[in-house]
Parts: sequence; C-alpha cells; structure tokens
Amino acid sequence: MSNGNFKERLEENPNYQKANAYKEKVLALGNDSLEKTIAVALALCFVCAILVSFAAVALRPLQIENKALDMKKNILEVAGLLDEGTDINQAFSDQIEEKLVDIETGDYIDDMDVVTYDQRKAAKDPSQNINISTEDDIASIKRKAKIAKVYLVKSGDVIESIILPMHGYGLWSTMYGFLALESDGQTVKSINFYDQAETPGLGGEVVNPNWRALWKGKKVYSESGDVKLGLIKGVVDTSKPGSEYDVDGLAGATLTSLGVSNLVKYWMSNQGFSAYLDKVRIEGEG
Ligand SMILES: Cc1cc2nc3c(=O)[nH]c(=O)nc-3n(C[C@H](O)[C@H](O)[C@H](O)COP(=O)(O)O)c2cc1C
Repeated sequence: MSNGNFKERLEENPNYQKANAYKEKVLALGNDSLEKTIAVALALCFVCAILVSFAAVALRPLQIENKALDMKKNILEVAGLLDEGTDINQAFSDQIEEKLVDIETGDYIDDMDVVTYDQRKAAKDPSQNINISTEDDIASIKRKAKIAKVYLVKSGDVIESIILPMHGYGLWSTMYGFLALESDGQTVKSINFYDQAETPGLGGEVVNPNWRALWKGKKVYSESGDVKLGLIKGVVDTSKPGSEYDVDGLAGATLTSLGVSNLVKYWMSNQGFSAYLDKVRIEGEG
C-alpha cells in the first residue's frame, strides 16, 4: 500500500474524521478553557505513557544483562579476582565454576541448568522452597530455596575458594551477600554485600572495604563444630584467645551488626552449608 493511498483511506475513515473534527474544535478554544487544558494534559499523558512503556520494554534485556554482569562482578570481587580493567564475562567464565547444591544433603545437583537457576526466585516458589520454623529462623528470612548456587575457584581439580551466598535481615532490609572461604571450609577469605538498604554511614558500612578487610583469616567453626564466627560490640582484641572468631561490630549500628552475625551463623550452620562444607573438606569434592 502506498503512503498516498493510506492517507486517503485514513481521511475517509469516519472515526478519523470525528477525531479530527474534535481536535479542530479543541484547538479553536481559548487557552484558558478548561476543556482545552484537560484535552492537552490527556494527550501529553498519552504520549508520555507510550514513551515510558516503549523505554521499559526496549531496555528490559539490557537491564537483565547488566544485572547478571553485576552479579559476576560481585563474585569475582569476593573471590579476590577483580582487577581494574578486568573483562568480567571472560574472567568469570575462565575462573569461576558455578555449582548447584542440595542444602540439606550437601550433594551437588547435576541435572539442572546451573546458569539459569535463580536462587532468589526459587526461595519465593513453594515448589522449590522450604519454610523455616520460627525457632530456626535466626536470619529472619522465613523461607529458603532447597537448592543453592555456590561458586568455586579451582586450580586444576583442586578447590582454592568456595563462595557461598547468604542473606538475612539487618535493621531496615534483607542483606544479600557472599562469604568466600578457603578450601578448608573454615577460614574466611572475604565477605561482601551486593544488595542491602541499611543506613549509609551506619549499617551501610557493611560495604566499607576497611571493615570487610577485618574478615580475612577469621575462622568459622569451633573445634566442636559450632559456628563461632560473628561480630562483637566494639573492637576485637587480637591478643585474646578466641579472637580469630570475632569481627569488630559496626559503630552505631548494633542491630545491623546482629543481623550480620545471625545470617553468617544461619548459613554456616546445618540449616545452611555445613553439610556441603563437610563434604568438601572430607571428600575434597569439587
Ligand atoms: C536515622 C537513623 C538510622 C539508623 N540506621 C541504623 C542502621 O542502619 N543500622 C543499625 O543497626 N542501627 C541504625 N540506627 C540506630 C538504631 O536505631 C539503634 O539505635 C542502634 O542500632 C542500637 O544500637 P546501640 O545499642 O549501640 O545504641 C539508626 C538510627 C537512626 C536515628
């Protein structure tokens, strides 16, 4: 159909003629007229709605891609593999192995697609989650996915780092992060939080590199296997026996500090990754 034909047919359409007549009538009204003000406002809303909808739909794939890239960046960072100028996609695929783990048994799950599995979505899906009893729910998360996504850094077949996802409630928000452990499943390499909404300067200091650096070398489990790692009020006296389990609390943020201790305790306990870490330690499974 040529443009000329289309224009002619449009002009012959009775609905188009009615709309056009209405447009002429509105434009002929004075600028102070209520009808003209409302019609112009509605037309403007209509155009803006189309533009916003178009932008939302067109930018969605880019947003998903950026979110995935940001997650890879966080994992590389907590693994200590992020340098300036690192090609994130390349570094991630070269150096990080993603694995799915049955949280209860600690076994790897090999018959699911690890790349598309979304643990946060699974935690909300009744067919893929477990409700946590109030008594066990020290991290205040109510439910968790049955299957977790863990990340391994390996040298050949030997595991160098185990990166475990953790989340739990602080004061204002659920804090999502990773704990990186050495292959002994006991010594902390690093911690980070990639999604939290605690107050900047108070609880938000969970992202402060200086505070995060205090975690390096800390130990998770006591000799009897209890989770001892956690935050204390104030500054750790490193000369004190047992200080290898303690990290400085966040100044003026006692409740966020408690939230971090609780989420670490939960995810390192038998409610979280202790079964998996036992297997890694004993069987050296990777
Ligand atoms: C505006 C505002 C923001 C706060 N943000 C946090 C926060 O992010 N994390 C936190 O633990 N406490 C925060 N607090 C402090 C808590 O309300 C509470 O006083 C504190 O955690 C208790 O610690 P304390 O026993 O050392 O006083 C905030 C307080 C105010 C007034």
